[in-house]
Amino acid sequence: MGKLNSATSTEIERRQFIKWVSLSSLSLALPLTSCNFGGSTKVDLPIDLSNLKNVYDFERLSMKVMGEDALLYLNGGADDLKTVKLNSEAYQEIQIRARRLIDVTNVSTEVNLLGQTLDNPIIMCPVGFQKFFHPDGEIGSAKASVKKKHQMIVSSVSNYSVNEIAEQSQAKLWFQLYPTVDRKVTKKLLERAETAGCKVCVLTVDSPVLGNRERGGTTLTKLMGDKILKMGNYEGIMPEGTTFDDAGMTWDIIAWLRENCDMKIVLKGIVTREDAALCVKHNVDGVIVSNHGGRQLESLRSTIDCLPEVVEEIDGKIPVLIDGGIRRGTDVFKALALGATAVCVGRPYCWGLGALGQQGVEMVLDILKAELIRDMQLAGTASIEKITKEHVLIN
Ligand code: FNR
Repeated sequence: MGKLNSATSTEIERRQFIKWVSLSSLSLALPLTSCNFGGSTKVDLPIDLSNLKNVYDFERLSMKVMGEDALLYLNGGADDLKTVKLNSEAYQEIQIRARRLIDVTNVSTEVNLLGQTLDNPIIMCPVGFQKFFHPDGEIGSAKASVKKKHQMIVSSVSNYSVNEIAEQSQAKLWFQLYPTVDRKVTKKLLERAETAGCKVCVLTVDSPVLGNRERGGTTLTKLMGDKILKMGNYEGIMPEGTTFDDAGMTWDIIAWLRENCDMKIVLKGIVTREDAALCVKHNVDGVIVSNHGGRQLESLRSTIDCLPEVVEEIDGKIPVLIDGGIRRGTDVFKALALGATAVCVGRPYCWGLGALGQQGVEMVLDILKAELIRDMQLAGTASIEKITKEHVLIN
């Protein structure tokens, strides 16, 4: 980026960030009129919470409460949103094969993953800029994650810093990394994450450049420009000329990460057997089959279609997680049956956050877990390891 002679380095840093955000999959425009940045509040108050029965009810409520541009950011995707839609629709092509006369009085959703025992296999995806959705932002999501016992992954581009989120919520967070071209910045990000207690670094590998997002726009520039929103993790460590994405990143980054942090390393964005093999070769600790919720490359397969070849290639050597389009307990069940160790959800908990703040996130997490438990009982599987590929049929 060309140097602006009349600007201070802080000013240049701010403009660089604004440019990046407004071009990026993170871009949106939001009116500045209310505390949740343009909530349209086309909703009868008080809201009858008992009417909120599934994650789609939260999606609908968020549409009434959140501003249009915030919704464009949250629900948007690359090009014509084909991959966004495919992620969810592909689950309809899979049927469950339920078994009968099995004692399912007590169901355990526990999973062992990366040295941790998790209460359940439903993890919260890294989602940036959560204060756009609600002032509770990532702190609200993290408090909900602790209360409801779900693992949360904090985005590099969270509004609150990972340290603030960990301190205020007491959550044991994982940290998602956008490495930046300048590895000195990357190292500082890693240090911040480790200081916040993160034991897992989730490296996003599907974003060498930003996806083509055609909707959303200008008001974020104003929000950032007016310093109403900040990117907590980068405060004070972004020198002039640094960019957030790194088109030059290759498999060498794994060795560099090993040298520069003690966190386990999970690669997010793997969608082929070839890259799954390279993950094993490079000794990464886990993978997330992900297409960034359809926000990066358009016309990728749905993630659930990619899962079997990745699982087959990895053959149990490291855990395989999946995200994208998971909206129901049955979707979680199907992904686990096809070999995922755990799943991650993105937009659903953010619909909860946008609709009702922390309380909405808690309700969405409750709904997904309750659905999974009921589905496990109805399918005759009393624990996660009992869910096998014999329990599904792909059309
Ligand atoms: C994302 N995602 C994402 N991924 C990542 O690695 N770092 C990030 O900062 C973000 N930010 C982000 C913002 C928003 C608004 C969305 C919707 C998504 C991608 C995310 O982690 C995940 O891959 C998808 O959201 C999963 O798809 P579903 O569950 O949203 O369908």
